[in-house]
Amino acid sequence: MPHVVTQACCGDASCVYACPVNCIHPTPDEPDFLTSEMLYIDPSTCVDCGACVSACPVGAIVPGHRLADEQLRYLDVNAAHYAEPEPDAVRFPVDPGWRLPLAPIQKPKPLQVPGGGDVEVAVVGSGPSAMYAADELLRYPNVRIRMYERLDRPFGLARFGVAPDHLSTRKVMRLFDDVARNPNLEILLNTEIGRDISLADLRARSHAVIWAGGAETDRRLQIPGADVAGVCSATEFVGWYNGHPDFADRTFDLSTPRVVIVGNGNVALDVARILTADPESLASTSISREALTALRASKVEEVMVVGRRDAGAAAFTLPELIGLIDGGASVTVDAGDLAQLGTASDTVTATKLDLLTEAAGAPHRDGPVIRFAFLRSPHEIVSGANGSVAGIRFIRNEMSPAGAVVPTDRFDDVDTGLVLTSIGYRGLALPGLPFDEARGVIPNDAGRVVGDDGPMPGMYVTGWIKRGPSGFIGTNKTDSADTIASFRADLEAGLLRAPTQPVRP
Ligand SMILES: Cc1cc2nc3c(=O)[nH]c(=O)nc-3n(C[C@H](O)[C@H](O)[C@H](O)COP(=O)(O)OP(=O)(O)OC[C@H]3O[C@@H](n4cnc5c(N)ncnc54)[C@H](O)[C@@H]3O)c2cc1C
Ligand SMILES: NC(=O)c1ccc[n+]([C@@H]2O[C@H](COP(=O)([O-])OP(=O)(O)OC[C@H]3O[C@@H](n4cnc5c(N)ncnc54)[C@H](OP(=O)(O)O)[C@@H]3O)[C@@H](O)[C@H]2O)c1
Ligand code: SF4
Ligand code: SF4
Repeated sequence: MPHVVTQACCGDASCVYACPVNCIHPTPDEPDFLTSEMLYIDPSTCVDCGACVSACPVGAIVPGHRLADEQLRYLDVNAAHYAEPEPDAVRFPVDPGWRLPLAPIQKPKPLQVPGGGDVEVAVVGSGPSAMYAADELLRYPNVRIRMYERLDRPFGLARFGVAPDHLSTRKVMRLFDDVARNPNLEILLNTEIGRDISLADLRARSHAVIWAGGAETDRRLQIPGADVAGVCSATEFVGWYNGHPDFADRTFDLSTPRVVIVGNGNVALDVARILTADPESLASTSISREALTALRASKVEEVMVVGRRDAGAAAFTLPELIGLIDGGASVTVDAGDLAQLGTASDTVTATKLDLLTEAAGAPHRDGPVIRFAFLRSPHEIVSGANGSVAGIRFIRNEMSPAGAVVPTDRFDDVDTGLVLTSIGYRGLALPGLPFDEARGVIPNDAGRVVGDDGPMPGMYVTGWIKRGPSGFIGTNKTDSADTIASFRADLEAGLLRAPTQPVRP
């Protein structure tokens, strides 16, 4: 039975390069790599050698015969992906004894700088994009990195975003720990660039600065009442249950029977899962003690997850939906929507719709239920007598044949004491750097920061603040490699200035 990729996959493609028979797709150089919801292993060519298992930092690849019951569906999804080969696809017969000869590992030569010596790089942030950038740079023996992190602990959303019950995915921090042990990397915690050290100072003390500060805030709902008490963002809620210092002292009203989550991306699924999980199943995880206490006392009976488009266009990915439903959550679909779930021609969407239909018809365990609702846009927050949220009014939508959301003149009113908006993240503008207000990113060309007068020499960007708040942890690996390639090319072309101030003040 072939190996398969399961939910924990964070998309770093290490397995792709480890596989001796190139049977894991899409690969980073295939066009659908950045948009694919998961990776697939071709069962007809996999020779069960296990090289991908060893290469995977999060234990996401499992031999078919070792899959747990709740993982079996990944086997079907994987097989379905390869069921209908493209007509002109070339399949090579593979000898199971065949292995690629191991290439001799060549240590990269030092980077050339005018006058010789070390290359000094400052990295702002210590999230996945910063750690992948550092890993790429540290291949060169004469690169020295100072990494600045405003929080008291490193690794950004890998620590403060990834859900506490995603134990395998959180193992990616072990990989980052390995990178952090390199003596040429120094991480300065509790140090915010722009507050404790100016960007100008940093630039004067390095050949290059790589900004990897992520998308630190969230998109806000622009509807009447959005600022009343009891309307909070998923960013705050996630930060709270993960012990993020900015959000640790938040409180949320879990005495309400219904929580409404606006948006249906993977963050919405994380939040819904944590709100409805048996708190005892979370007790041994890294969840904050405050959140665990609050969840133990929770009176929430239903978490409604509301999307503005139809079910086929939902933003959550298939592995996360499988993990939610087969992981034991009680999931249902709003009655009116269930009748209209429809069908889809692509396997991923069709499987999502099948799963939702199956879950809605299955018996539910005792405890809170997750109810999916579709084709509704938030229209207005309704306040109660005490001034905090009492309900939310949605406007009903239809989908146009071209796939656009079309509002109707029908409304739905939903009672709730807590609305969590999970409508995406957003980067923050920074003094001294250009900013694209519309996209919430730093304008760049392959990682080179571009201002009004063209590229800013020695200033680079990577991760969510470079490309926007989408993609998995591992997506930042290819993204950072792209930025470091630009940095190297500029260094070799003599475009980078040596530090004008002592590197260590
Ligand atoms: C709630 C949530 C859950 C997620 N779960 C998963 C998952 O299960 N699997 C998965 O593959 N992907 C997941 N992702 C996506 C993944 O976390 C991101 O792709 C990734 O973290 C982006 O990396 P980044 O380095 O660009 O940003 P971040 O991870 O946000 O890192 C940015 C870092 O920069 C620091 N910083 C910012 N400004 C400054 C400054 N001025 N000075 C110093 N430091 C600064 C921040 O404190 C932070 O540590 C999740 C995302 C979210 C929001
Ligand atoms: N386990 C994991 O792998 C994991 C976990 C968490 C996050 N992540 C990744 O992190 C990234 C961010 O996730 P996310 O959930 O924050 O973002 P997301 O996937 O972009 O989802 C945002 C949701 O908000 C909706 N939305 C946006 N603006 C809205 C508005 N004005 N009114 C109503 N709805 C609105 C979107 O609807 P439309 O689709 O209609 O725009 C979508 O449903 C994603 O790439 C995600 O895959 C991964
Ligand atoms: S088990 Fe071996 S052949 Fe199969 S996908 Fe993994 S690396 Fe490739
Ligand atoms: S996390 Fe990386 S190595 Fe593991 S399955 Fe996903 S892409 Fe492959």
